[in-house]
Amino acid sequence: MRYALISDIHANLPALDAVLADIRARSDTDATFHLGDLVGYAPWPNEVVQRLRDEGIHGISGNYDSTVATDYKHCGCKYEDARQEELSHVSYAWTREQVSPDTKAFLGRLPFRLDLRPFGGHVSGPTVILVHGTPINNVTYWTEDRNDDFCAKMSEVAGARSGDVIAFGHTHKPWHRMVGGVHFVNTGSVGRPKDGDWRAGYVRLDIDTSGTRVEFRRVEYDVELAARAIVAGTLPDDFAVYLRTGGMPALATTTDRLPRSG
Ligand SMILES: [Fe+2]
Repeated sequence: MRYALISDIHANLPALDAVLADIRARSDTDATFHLGDLVGYAPWPNEVVQRLRDEGIHGISGNYDSTVATDYKHCGCKYEDARQEELSHVSYAWTREQVSPDTKAFLGRLPFRLDLRPFGGHVSGPTVILVHGTPINNVTYWTEDRNDDFCAKMSEVAGARSGDVIAFGHTHKPWHRMVGGVHFVNTGSVGRPKDGDWRAGYVRLDIDTSGTRVEFRRVEYDVELAARAIVAGTLPDDFAVYLRTGGMPALATTTDRLPRSG
């Protein structure tokens, strides 16, 4: 069974479409699931949700989805500094204003967690557990530098056993490691990577009786289309720089900061 796992699309329709095209081009993908954070920071929240519904792609609720759906006071995001906090509030208010009642209701219906059984539920075999942040909540950042004890604790909470996979997103930085025989896979982000690589990221899992293989994919997309749409609209221009620099605006060149209209 080969799964494509896509997370943290964040209303970036060109990035999502490029990833879906890449998945389609690899005709051996059996199923695609999303890991939440469908909206926020870019101009196409309703369009992204509609695309996933049209494509029949199921998935789970990210912090951005559950906070928008429940009218929470903020998006549950982490801020590095005061400027980032300010921008985060602007994005959240903008998104809440833009999502249609239908989109909002859809976000509210997303489940917290999905379990996949690639060999079927009638025989023993690995379980692939999909969550957005951790098995406990969708706001904790499960970064690569978390120690083995943290991972083992998450396995225990999730009920994972050796051979299982726990896949999650939320940090926008992809990584994979094994602790106690359990695969921990951070899928990275489709629409708002933070690892310095502007390309859309997702993960392929290839699972058979010999084990699980994890492949991180990066896909070029029309980042300028997304950046120009941000600059032309009412979202902060900073979000365009963020996309162009793969989440590292401090390293932006003058060119990254140009509006580039036309
Ligand atoms: Fe996110």
